[in-house]
Amino acid sequence: MTHVIGSACIDVKDGACVLCCPVDCIYEGQRTLYIHPDECIDCGVCISACPVQAIYEDRRLPSDQANFLAINKEFFEPQVSGLGAPGGACDIAKPVCDHPVVVAWPVARTPP
Ligand code: F3S
Repeated sequence: MTHVIGSACIDVKDGACVLCCPVDCIYEGQRTLYIHPDECIDCGVCISACPVQAIYEDRRLPSDQANFLAINKEFFEPQVSGLGAPGGACDIAKPVCDHPVVVAWPVARTPP
C-alpha cells in the first residue's frame, strides 16, 4: 500500500507533506508533487499536513481521483521522469517534469 497525491495539489504545491515525510519519498514536479509508491512506508503523516486534502491512502481514493494512483507511479518510470527509485527526494534537482496527465491539466482561472 501507499499514499497518493491527487489533483488538488496541482498548481498549489504547498509542500507541508515534504517537510513531515519521515522517509523523504515525496518528489516535486513542475505543477504537482508525487509520492513514490515503493518508498512510501504508508505512515499517513502527510494526509493531515496537506492544507487542501490532496493526499489519500491508495485504498481510499475517491473514484474521481482513481487515475492518480497510476499517475504517481508512472511519474518515476523512464518514459516520464526516469527517476526510478532514488531512495530520497532531497538530492534530486527540482522540479523535474510532470506526468503527461498533469501537464495537460487545465489551469484554474482566478476571478478578475
Ligand atoms: Fe501538494 Fe498538499 Fe503536499 S498541496 S505539496 S500534497 S501538502
